[in-house]
Amino acid sequence: MIRNSLTAKIIISVGIVISVVIGVCAYIIVIVQTNELMDRAKRNGIYINHLVNQYVSQFMLTGNRKEIKEFFININKSEEVRKIFLFDENGRIVFSSNQNDIGMDADDFHRGLFENIEGRVKYKVQEKSGIFSIVTPISNKPECQQCHDTARATLGALALDISLVPAEKEIVKNRNLIILFALVGLVLVSAVLSVLVVIMVKRPINKLIGTMTEVEQGNFDVKVDIKNKDELGQLGNSFNSMIARLERTNMELLRHHEMQLQQAEKMATIGELASGIAHEIKNPLAGIGAAIQVLADEFDLRNTHSEVVDEIMLQLDRLNKNTRDLLSFARPAEPRFLSGDLNEVVSKAVFFVRKQAEKQKIGIKEELEKQIPKIFLDPEQMQQVFLNIMLNAVQATPEGGNLTISTQKKPEIVPVIIGAPGVRGSKDNVSRERIEISFSDTGKGITEEHLKKIFNPFFSTKHRGTGLGLAISRNIVEKHGGHIEVKSKPGRGTNVTVVLPVKGSI
Ligand SMILES: Nc1ncnc2c1ncn2[C@@H]1O[C@H](COP(=O)(O)OP(=O)(O)OP(=O)(O)O)[C@@H](O)[C@H]1O
Ligand SMILES: [Mg+2]
Repeated sequence: MIRNSLTAKIIISVGIVISVVIGVCAYIIVIVQTNELMDRAKRNGIYINHLVNQYVSQFMLTGNRKEIKEFFININKSEEVRKIFLFDENGRIVFSSNQNDIGMDADDFHRGLFENIEGRVKYKVQEKSGIFSIVTPISNKPECQQCHDTARATLGALALDISLVPAEKEIVKNRNLIILFALVGLVLVSAVLSVLVVIMVKRPINKLIGTMTEVEQGNFDVKVDIKNKDELGQLGNSFNSMIARLERTNMELLRHHEMQLQQAEKMATIGELASGIAHEIKNPLAGIGAAIQVLADEFDLRNTHSEVVDEIMLQLDRLNKNTRDLLSFARPAEPRFLSGDLNEVVSKAVFFVRKQAEKQKIGIKEELEKQIPKIFLDPEQMQQVFLNIMLNAVQATPEGGNLTISTQKKPEIVPVIIGAPGVRGSKDNVSRERIEISFSDTGKGITEEHLKKIFNPFFSTKHRGTGLGLAISRNIVEKHGGHIEVKSKPGRGTNVTVVLPVKGSI
């Protein structure tokens, strides 16, 4: 679900970044606050200790022990002050906020601080109890020496225990507040972010997807309505112009298709008509031919009017060919496949063309590859194909030109996708080969404009051509699973290549 939603991905990623930033900020604020509060509590303790020390020194000079006692009791009423006491240089407690301690020895912790005191204030936190202890030495000043021994530098120390609990409570309170604010901020920022992403990203993308689906289903009347001026808006605009272009292309295709359909229908009607006529002409034509031959023999016309007889026979031959062409175009016979040697079929076709070529002084060169495998083909139909192509070449080549015929076995270069319809498996793909039968002439060539039309039925540039030779040939070759390629350079010559599969759709 999340993996498929861009909006969810954006919200989660930005949400994580914001959480981390807010978390780190909150953590830093908590640490700074904690240190600040602790420092303040300690500074307060040191300050109180300093004040008490001054008071005590004063009371000492006046010798008012009772006031010192009361002062200690009163100061202890403060929430922060846990205990205050004064001990002499031997560690014995002289005054204390806790009356029971008077006369007792100070504990090791305070005495330890006093031992290293060297005339300075010493303080340390008692980690376990959360108490901050400050020990201040009481120096033996000249005014003190009225009562105390002059040899002693320090008379004792004032110890003050400050509780850090109130500061800790404040720290916890502040920390909870910061966490609360961080969480509320996070929720608010996430909510605003989600709304913004939905408005600025999800909605336009949904509109795009909706329109794309419509277009996919063939509806080109739709438009993406994105008002944003950002990249998504630009994408919508580009998409709209793409739909418009698609619609135009689609219309053109439809028109073209319609025209093709009309053309095909026209061709079918013409073909039907032509084949009907051809069928009707075929038999009388054979009858006329036979009758002319009988007449020629009977009246010895071959000796007296040989030119006339030859001309009649020539025209009859032409009529016969045209009728045959029309019939095989309109009602093409299904090929009868036999295992055949292509070189043999080519050579037979060359044999029929050679006479005509010699007449026009056109040299024919055969370059047939010996290792051509046998393939399934209809030899008669294939011979007709080769004849059509070679006759075209001979007709287009001037005297002294050349026609080269070659056969070649080549590996199949068309990539075959395994699993595609009609493809049985990888073995098939590896063994697929093709045979190329190429006819190259040095004739007048074909212009680019004509090249597009030469396979169209009835297209001919010749005075007496039916324009069916190549149309019939293509039909036959395609039934063999192959195709015909034509390359030509006007004035230089033409190359027609018949490509047949060794193992194909047959
Ligand atoms: N080798 C070639 N050199 C030049 N033009 C060619 C060649 N082969 C075909 N053509 C062109 O292609 C056209 C169509 O050829 P196609 O064989 O289909 O008909 P045709 O030769 O005109 O008539 P038909 O073959 O029925 O006698 C030809 O009229 C010619 O213009
Ligand atoms: Mg021809």
